[in-house]
Amino acid sequence: MATLILFILSLALLVPLTSTYFPTLRKGSSLSTEKPEDVLSSPNGVFSAGFYPVGENAYCFAIWFNHSSHSHPHTIVWMANRDQPVNGRRSKLSLLKTGNLILTDAGKFTVWASNTLSRSPLQLSLNNTGNLVLHTLEGDSLWESFDFPTDTLLPQQRLTRNTKVVSSKSQSNYSSGFYKLFFNDDNLLSLVYDGIEISSLYWPDPTLVSWDAGRSTYNSSRVAVLDSLGNFTSSDNLTVMSADNRMGLHRRLTVDFDGNIRLYSWEKEEGTWVISWQAIQKPCTIHGTCGPNSICSYVADSGRKCSCLPGYEMKNLTNWSHGCKRKFNLSCNKKDSGFLLLSHVEFYGYGTGEVENYTFSQCKNSCLQLCNCKAFQFKFDEGKGSAKCSPKTLLYNGYRSPDFKGDLYLRVPKSNLLSTNSVQEFHLDCSSEGTVLQVLNRTYVKSRPNGTVKIVLWFACGLGGLEVVCIFLVWCLLIRGQQSWGADKQGYLPAATGFRKFTYAELKKATKGFSEEIGRGAGGTVYRGVLSDSRVVAIKRLNEANQGESEFLAEVSIIGRINHMNLIEMWGYCVEGKHRILVYEYMEHGSLAENLSSNSLDWKKRFEIALGTAKGLAYLHEECLEWVLHCDVKPQNILLDSNYHPKVADFGLSKLQNRSGLKNSSFSRIRGTRGYMAPEWIFNLPITSKVDVYSYGIVVLEMVTGKQTQMGVHPMDGGGETEDRRLVTWVREKMNRNKAATTASWMEEIIDPVMEGTYEMGKMEILVGMALQCVEEDKDARPSMSQVVKMLLSHENDHYN
Ligand SMILES: *[C@@H]1O[C@H](CO)[C@@H](O)[C@H](O)[C@H]1NC(C)=O
Ligand SMILES: *[C@@H]1O[C@H](CO)[C@@H](O)[C@H](O)[C@H]1NC(C)=O
Ligand SMILES: *[C@@H]1O[C@H](CO)[C@@H](O)[C@H](O)[C@H]1NC(C)=O
Ligand SMILES: *[C@@H]1O[C@H](CO)[C@@H](O)[C@H](O)[C@H]1NC(C)=O
Ligand SMILES: *[C@@H]1O[C@H](CO)[C@@H](O)[C@H](O)[C@H]1NC(C)=O
Ligand SMILES: *[C@@H]1O[C@H](CO)[C@@H](O)[C@H](O)[C@H]1NC(C)=O
Ligand SMILES: *[C@@H]1O[C@H](CO)[C@@H](O)[C@H](O)[C@H]1NC(C)=O
Ligand SMILES: *[C@@H]1O[C@H](CO)[C@@H](O)[C@H](O)[C@H]1NC(C)=O
Ligand SMILES: *[C@@H]1O[C@H](CO)[C@@H](O)[C@H](O)[C@H]1NC(C)=O
Ligand SMILES: *[C@@H]1O[C@H](CO)[C@@H](O)[C@H](O)[C@H]1NC(C)=O
Ligand SMILES: *[C@@H]1O[C@H](CO)[C@@H](O)[C@H](O)[C@H]1NC(C)=O
Ligand SMILES: *[C@@H]1O[C@H](CO)[C@@H](O)[C@H](O)[C@H]1NC(C)=O
Repeated sequence: MATLILFILSLALLVPLTSTYFPTLRKGSSLSTEKPEDVLSSPNGVFSAGFYPVGENAYCFAIWFNHSSHSHPHTIVWMANRDQPVNGRRSKLSLLKTGNLILTDAGKFTVWASNTLSRSPLQLSLNNTGNLVLHTLEGDSLWESFDFPTDTLLPQQRLTRNTKVVSSKSQSNYSSGFYKLFFNDDNLLSLVYDGIEISSLYWPDPTLVSWDAGRSTYNSSRVAVLDSLGNFTSSDNLTVMSADNRMGLHRRLTVDFDGNIRLYSWEKEEGTWVISWQAIQKPCTIHGTCGPNSICSYVADSGRKCSCLPGYEMKNLTNWSHGCKRKFNLSCNKKDSGFLLLSHVEFYGYGTGEVENYTFSQCKNSCLQLCNCKAFQFKFDEGKGSAKCSPKTLLYNGYRSPDFKGDLYLRVPKSNLLSTNSVQEFHLDCSSEGTVLQVLNRTYVKSRPNGTVKIVLWFACGLGGLEVVCIFLVWCLLIRGQQSWGADKQGYLPAATGFRKFTYAELKKATKGFSEEIGRGAGGTVYRGVLSDSRVVAIKRLNEANQGESEFLAEVSIIGRINHMNLIEMWGYCVEGKHRILVYEYMEHGSLAENLSSNSLDWKKRFEIALGTAKGLAYLHEECLEWVLHCDVKPQNILLDSNYHPKVADFGLSKLQNRSGLKNSSFSRIRGTRGYMAPEWIFNLPITSKVDVYSYGIVVLEMVTGKQTQMGVHPMDGGGETEDRRLVTWVREKMNRNKAATTASWMEEIIDPVMEGTYEMGKMEILVGMALQCVEEDKDARPSMSQVVKMLLSHENDHYN
């Protein structure tokens, strides 16, 4: 109810639409903030231009997409005075007799002007493309809004050597932000963080030379344009193809306030903007996220997270942009300094340069030589057999990513080496990351005959904020990872994966007409097949194609890129007509479920399978793309290769198979398999990566006990929530009843009789203890997958008895 009221309120403030139709503005006339019907519309009705409220009694002259939906208020594509809103009273956009188009604030100050001059009759009209054009009656244009982009490029709008696209401050503050897209002096289209203290380029990847990033510096024409098919091409050879390459969609390319460039297309049925391409897949590589001396990392549950370096503390506890400051003093004396290792941490730039072929101790010494050296980065390149060393005097733009194959050695006083070993961590969740939830106060100076009066403004967008943030959270979880199919063209991807498109005929032949069925699951049927290059594959035919081709492609391309030794590898896909088929590597030993029922696993294999599965899931949750939750972890989805190494299968499919609910939440429908589903599904609680942890816990309990929880293949009698927890309850009861007795006696009771006497008690105990933690009812009591991996790894080489 409250949301509804908020929504109606925000609509009332945000939608100044009436039926009056202003085709053009002529010399001597004006549009006023006081008349909401003063709106120019494009002949096709797609765009409107007029005064747009950006706060109470604060307006900007803007162009926006006319269409809107519940979840999306009008989308602004251009603003004349984004940094200087005008008063709601007596402010006007006027076309003067001189030919100048001016915007006056409160009848007094000119805050913006087109600076045009003409004696002939002029007209201001909004083109079908969204271009606001001041032209003569003959059609010669004097001024166009397309020549002065704000944060968005529309199809056919050219980004040239003279123009820049600048992000907004935040979701609700449209004034100029810190991220800029423009052609740099090398003719490269680049994205730069232009902050208060520092300014740095982060796209294209500054560690790559331009041609490795698929760019060319030779063409000096410096022009980039988006066409209506969704191709964005730039003279530096950047070519982007939208995931939904077809006519008739409304599109825009926006430098978002979070520093990413996204190509959006309007999905009419759902009434939302869908991301069909984005420049940066790893949000932490965007500069300016966390401030100096801190590290950005991605976390499945909450998006980006900033942490201070060990021994550092936040400068300003309410604002990460200020970064962190040192808690200790560094002396210049070499003997007093030690180093702390931070693996897979990279700080971009701000060094004394990068030197090759240094040994570790040479590198360390070169840092110690410098009084102001705060750390050094050491990266061994196995291919070249040499190491790169870069001492750092400033620590900006730090991030942790397992993809970075180097380490940072942080200089600390020797006396601090032990005490500073902990990392201070704060969560930076999506909602606080620039989306402004709190009501903003602003003083606004208004000119009146009796002097200036201060009026406190607050923002309408703050009201609509709830909705916006909800949508934003769903984005964070689900859409941010979306990438375009066309990203391949940029040359950022390893081409070696061999991931490709198959024709239906090819797959039909490979499976001998889909004859050899090897599995059947919720999403489809799996067949064994042999490709023409004699590779054996598992081919999964998805049941219902309730999804458009482009979305399917966008998602398959993401899954196709996920690469980890404990995740099944996708080799390709087929999309033809209604057929949606996925091609996977074939796993000799079938599923964990089959192996458990045939008793072919000894305790060592079971421990290794538990560990491998945990590693695979941890990678999905925390290390690759943020949104990947498995949602259907069960023994049928854990496959074993010829050495019984586990690989998790079917990840990402929860997303492929149901997009219909995306508007509210993709997880609106319960998924998973009975017996393995976390209580959150049943009680309709927020779904996080902890649902997979729960299912994983059940799987481990099954592996240890050899008993099956309720599941599709061998349904037990009964039903309901309590039935689902039978196995957990049984193990807990055994444990509690025998607490007085030795561990050995209750363990013996629960452990799979097949393994009788052959297992290592200590390790089994760890497995059971960990699994019981994973199946806690309260999701916060469960460990994360990476904590599980740590727990198991720390005992991998223990020997008991
Ligand atoms: C677009 O604008 C026109 C005129 O202002 C209005 O009549 C029409 O309803 C608007 N269309 C949408 C989809 O908002
Ligand atoms: C505006 O649109 C008309 C037709 O839609 C086109 O002929 C004209 O070239 C456009 N003008 C500009 C400046 O884009
Ligand atoms: C947006 O942010 C700028 C800079 O922080 C601030 O000066 C301005 O008042 C804000 N504008 C609005 C509409 O909140
Ligand atoms: C542009 O990219 C294409 C491949 O995408 C490549 O064949 C061509 O050589 C590139 N041109 C330049 C000037 O780098
Ligand atoms: C634009 O997209 C279409 C459709 O995929 C493609 O055929 C065409 O080659 C692209 N044009 C350019 C200039 O890349
Ligand atoms: C430079 O880029 C422009 C725009 O993409 C293109 O039309 C032109 O042919 C290119 N020039 C050369 C020499 O490649
Ligand atoms: C911390 O930042 C907030 C907001 O940017 C500011 O109001 C406050 O004064 C800062 N505090 C300190 C101690 O600098
Ligand atoms: C944080 O500090 C930066 C730099 O001083 C400032 O631009 C920004 O508005 C602050 N953010 C908040 C939420 O106060
Ligand atoms: C660092 O040095 C300053 C002055 O040189 C001193 O006041 C301060 O106590 C020192 N801090 C620590 C942690 O030693
Ligand atoms: C580094 O050393 C290796 C082996 O000694 C040598 O082949 C290579 O050329 C050296 N690289 C540089 C940049 O000096
Ligand atoms: C904004 O203004 C309201 C009332 O004018 C006040 O209660 C609130 O504390 C202010 N918030 C900030 C962040 O200044
Ligand atoms: C005009 O000024 C008077 C006194 O200076 C003040 O009381 C009054 O509020 C002002 N008018 C408005 C509309 O604020």
